[in-house]
Amino acid sequence: MASNHPENLAVRVIGAPEGLPELKDFEVTVEPMPVPGEGEVLFRGIYMSLDPAMRRKMPYPVLAPGPLGATAKIGDLMIAGQVPPGRGYSGGMVGEVVESRHPDFKPGDLIHGGCYWQTYQVLHGRHLDKLPKGEAPLIAELGVLGQPGFVAYAGMELIGQVKPGETLVVSAAGGAIGMLAGQMGKIAGAKVVGVASGEKVDYVVRELGFDACIDRHKEPIGEALDRLCPEGIDVYFDNVGGEVQRAAFDRLRDFGRLVVCGMAGEYNAAESDHGPPLRPVLRKQLKIQGYVIYSYYDMYPEFRRRVLGWLKEGKVKYREQIVDGMANAPQGLIDLLSGANKGKMIVKLGPEPGEA
Ligand SMILES: NC(=O)c1ccc[n+]([C@@H]2O[C@H](COP(=O)([O-])OP(=O)(O)OC[C@H]3O[C@@H](n4cnc5c(N)ncnc54)[C@H](OP(=O)(O)O)[C@@H]3O)[C@@H](O)[C@H]2O)c1
Repeated sequence: MASNHPENLAVRVIGAPEGLPELKDFEVTVEPMPVPGEGEVLFRGIYMSLDPAMRRKMPYPVLAPGPLGATAKIGDLMIAGQVPPGRGYSGGMVGEVVESRHPDFKPGDLIHGGCYWQTYQVLHGRHLDKLPKGEAPLIAELGVLGQPGFVAYAGMELIGQVKPGETLVVSAAGGAIGMLAGQMGKIAGAKVVGVASGEKVDYVVRELGFDACIDRHKEPIGEALDRLCPEGIDVYFDNVGGEVQRAAFDRLRDFGRLVVCGMAGEYNAAESDHGPPLRPVLRKQLKIQGYVIYSYYDMYPEFRRRVLGWLKEGKVKYREQIVDGMANAPQGLIDLLSGANKGKMIVKLGPEPGEA
């Protein structure tokens, strides 16, 4: 509760980095404790998600269009979720209500929401979702049951639609979204090949059951895809853009699908300078579709029911890497953008209810 953790720790962005951000681009600050007005709720963040797209919400040396919503200016708080806030689900945190002036919330309720890298926040109740207690570990609400899991599910269900016997390639395969996208491919009966780096290469094969995984730092992607997918690729689930995207695109079979989920490998640049040619799209009758998860909320209950079922049956595994405290969040984001994460990257801001 507030009295145990009276400091409202936050992080502001104080640089407009070119390329990978550095620690000097961030400043850890103590902000005043916000006070809820009519209809508003004060909550304490317990876990905060770190996402590659947070890089796109930092200022760039030249003005560039960010993802949906606002981009921070120099001196602003780092952005953790949708700004302006949408539904709680689109926020970057899970936490506990401290004080409520909204009839649907009371102190002690667990919520999903939050816009900034700030421990205590005030938002109108309509921008928060109440979380069920005891259905799953709280941290999973930012991972396998949260936005990453949902993004994987929506991309595979709506666009990938992989069939038994087909070949699925997933980039950032050991990351928050790639982990689930690849396992959904296995559940659907496909051959699944990941692209990753470091120990994740072994992890997705040994622990998650992928058929193979390419280490993008050890072998040219195109050669590795030719070796592992000699018949070509039916579905490419793209989390990274860049050269991995191009190598996979070139190997799509007739009626192949390219799920444009994200471009984490390009976010350090203001704009993308890659893009596949369109003639093969016509010749091979390919489908290329991007999607932003904010448009698909109505699928969330279906997703949650199915993933909870898969978790219970042991068909899906998942892991998180925990960063300790708000002050370490900048390094966590830098690690995530460098590929040094082991699974979903989450900052622990404070104790869970009942935890010492
Ligand atoms: N469409 C939507 O609505 C939506 C919503 C949320 C997120 N996303 C996007 O989904 C993607 C995955 O997000 P996530 O949270 O699951 O992140 P993540 O996969 O946990 O982390 C990003 C990974 O990208 C890989 N990477 C970084 N630089 C790269 C490069 N230059 N070339 C190739 N790979 C590189 C790294 O993995 P390896 O080093 O292991 O390869 C890194 O760990 C991101 O692009 C994100 O923006 C989309």
